[in-house]
Amino acid sequence: GKVAVIMGGSSAEREVSLMSGAGVLAALQASGVDAHAFDPAEKPLQLLKTEGFDRAFLILHGRGGEDGTIQGALEFLGVPYTGCGVMASAIGMDKWRTKLLWEAVGLPVPDYRIVDSAEELKLAVQELGLPLFVKPANEGSSVGVVKLKSLLDVSAAWAEVSRHKSVVLAERNIGGGEYTCAVLDGQALPTVKIVPQTEFYDYESKYIRDDTVYHCPSGLSDEKEQQARSLAEKAYRILGATGWARIDFLTDEDGKIFLLEANTAPGMTTHSLFPMCAREAGLSYEALVMKILATTL
Ligand code: DAL
Ligand code: MG
Repeated sequence: GKVAVIMGGSSAEREVSLMSGAGVLAALQASGVDAHAFDPAEKPLQLLKTEGFDRAFLILHGRGGEDGTIQGALEFLGVPYTGCGVMASAIGMDKWRTKLLWEAVGLPVPDYRIVDSAEELKLAVQELGLPLFVKPANEGSSVGVVKLKSLLDVSAAWAEVSRHKSVVLAERNIGGGEYTCAVLDGQALPTVKIVPQTEFYDYESKYIRDDTVYHCPSGLSDEKEQQARSLAEKAYRILGATGWARIDFLTDEDGKIFLLEANTAPGMTTHSLFPMCAREAGLSYEALVMKILATTL
């Protein structure tokens, strides 16, 4: 049947989604699928029905596309779609609620505070130390994330983060490595280690700079690798994820793992992590896209 690659949208991650979508579309077409781009920022979603689409490959990132909104609309229209359903998408887009859920079952997350003002951010610095990561709870691709390194920068950090109309999290610096674990249909793939040449793995180092170093296999010991994969599978399951999702995590200097967040419509750009994990597991980009598509059935 005819497949809509739903991409673009109107979130802060529109440009990333267009890049992910271009990759997915080309891969589906190369595999002989009758796939077409569909941008809900440019046409009403109901046209999926009138234009005869049987299924949707959802590759919208960010609010409105990765948060349950479009998933609910597709349920209502009766169009099967890839990836997480309404609940997992809604919780996954919210880093605070995701943490609450993971903490409740004893999964390790970095210590954090919710802050509602520059004053509260200052208190969080006193409690959690510097550097401190200050982030909107409901964005992706590190949009709006500030690494706060000095008390002198509290007002500027607050001004930057509070622009994003979201709950603000202040999160303790963990200080070891940055990693991610792709989970495909409930099964963790090999982890990737990310070594940004910037202060942290921000928007620039994700999509613009070409100097970010990725290690896959990640270099974790066999034991740590197994532990990370098992934590990622648990995190996915507790969230109620389906199809695919990517769980980002950190390690501290002693190698202890801390789960950061879930991405329920992970990036599929040429720079993106999910395809790297898949390749290490022997799945080409095209094969991965076909497997994700198959999870709608
Ligand atoms: N939010 C971006 C697309 C990612 O997690 O890959
Ligand atoms: Mg994210």
